[in-house]
Amino acid sequence: MAIRLSCAPERAYLEAHRPQLSYSPARNWMNDPNGLVYHDGEYHLFYQYNPNGDEWGDMSWGHAVSADLVHWSELPVALTVEKDALGAITQSFFSGSAVVDHANSSGLGENGQAPMVAVYTSVYPGAMTLANGTRVRQGQQSQSLAYSADRGRSWTQYAGNPVLALPPAAHHDEYREFRDPKVFWYAPHAKWVMVVVLAMQHKALWYASKDLIEWQFMSEFGPVSAIGGVWECPDLFELAVDGDAANRKWVLLINLNPGGPAGGSGAQYFIGQFDGQRFLADPAAPGNAARAGEPVVLTAQPGDKVHWLDYGADFYAAVSWNDAPDGRRVLIGWMSNWLYARQVPTAPWRSAQSVAREVTLRSIDGQVRLVQQPVAAFDQLRRDVLLAATGEPIADGVTALAPTGAGAIDIELLLDPGTALRAGVLVHTGANGDQTAIGYDRALGQVYVDRSRSGDASFSDIFAARHAAPVALRDGAIRLRILVDGASVTVFAGDGEAVLTSQIFPAAGSDGLGAFAEGGQATLRHLTAWPLASIWAGHE
Ligand code: FRU
Repeated sequence: MAIRLSCAPERAYLEAHRPQLSYSPARNWMNDPNGLVYHDGEYHLFYQYNPNGDEWGDMSWGHAVSADLVHWSELPVALTVEKDALGAITQSFFSGSAVVDHANSSGLGENGQAPMVAVYTSVYPGAMTLANGTRVRQGQQSQSLAYSADRGRSWTQYAGNPVLALPPAAHHDEYREFRDPKVFWYAPHAKWVMVVVLAMQHKALWYASKDLIEWQFMSEFGPVSAIGGVWECPDLFELAVDGDAANRKWVLLINLNPGGPAGGSGAQYFIGQFDGQRFLADPAAPGNAARAGEPVVLTAQPGDKVHWLDYGADFYAAVSWNDAPDGRRVLIGWMSNWLYARQVPTAPWRSAQSVAREVTLRSIDGQVRLVQQPVAAFDQLRRDVLLAATGEPIADGVTALAPTGAGAIDIELLLDPGTALRAGVLVHTGANGDQTAIGYDRALGQVYVDRSRSGDASFSDIFAARHAAPVALRDGAIRLRILVDGASVTVFAGDGEAVLTSQIFPAAGSDGLGAFAEGGQATLRHLTAWPLASIWAGHE
């Protein structure tokens, strides 16, 4: 006799469209990564989280940790939205960063221990007097602190919050949007530096502090380059150029919504110098041409002056880890877009983070570029090779390569477009005509992801589209590394100077892999594909 199991829910992390290569919370809504800091063997990932639903709201800081930036464990909510007795919100926790205060400069460490300090934007929906007597205005956004003595597991809000508010005179509408502080230690001046945005003004503002509590204004940057939407979630960090420790430059990240390269949310960067007080963009660096003259409103086409971190539709609020070991700089972004984030067809969670990417600066064709690659730990997910080809012609049309099985795959590819106008690979192909194309367009000089037939796009008018990034062929070929997940593709082109991150929602069973050429013949100089273990394998 069959035993009827009680109505078991779908097993966590195995639901349809559940990302198997990057973090998503077990349940509920998530947006920006927050509080990225490495401490005591753990990479902390806090994030904008609604503990009470699968749409944006009740903004709190969710929390997960990882030892390798690939496998994650979700922890209890770190900072929970505050409400009054009637259920009205009194404080929301918007985006921000975290530091380990190694010298206990803040005095917030117990017994002189180094505290972890989160610096976030407090949003007070209504005018009120805080417990410490501070008056706040309706809708005020100010910067606040919370500290933890137990590796981020429990938090206390600083009694003197907020620690940084704009002067009252500035509180007309345009200046209200003052948020997303990124704080880091600036060793040459032995001080903390904060970069924070005036979102509607398209300005990044720099402040300095000796103790994380008292902040002095230093300088501002903007509006320049892409200003088609609000500026959000800034970041600033230093990197060696071509691995030369004597030649270092600073990278300023500014997230922008809308006005991104694929429509909606996007992330731009500037390369320049930071002297501890102000950031000056290199005039020679692409993306900075607008700096010398008037601010330019760009419509965000690939190939224009803006330097985009990602050309796909799903990479936003990108920020990097503080204190990553060995001087590494690792970025992560929210893998969605405000144009349709609230509608994506996933349950019981909504939104994932991107795969973590290590970034470096490299000279390419005479210009210093930011290049990105998946963090090395992804190599450990590789299983036995699924497919390997060398010098394989791709005839005009579509060539089926292999079924991949339902799991994620990693593809390394050196593609010579030959006489084809467009050529590349097809992933998540299905009997129903589903396919996602990752190709090179020879005439346009672009790598693209075409998700116009990728599966379910019914939730949004603009989801089914093709997104492209300019990349020159080198030696007649284009190098691609493609991480194919059940509900996304992430494409690193060239040395990683162009990246495209795209969500897709293919039908179950659309697991085929193919190659294609249009209008001529192309060649797979090399292709290797590996099945990847799920980051949740063994996770119950
Ligand atoms: C970016 C953003 C931030 C803000 C947060 C609120 O996606 O709008 O500017 O702090 O989300 O959830």
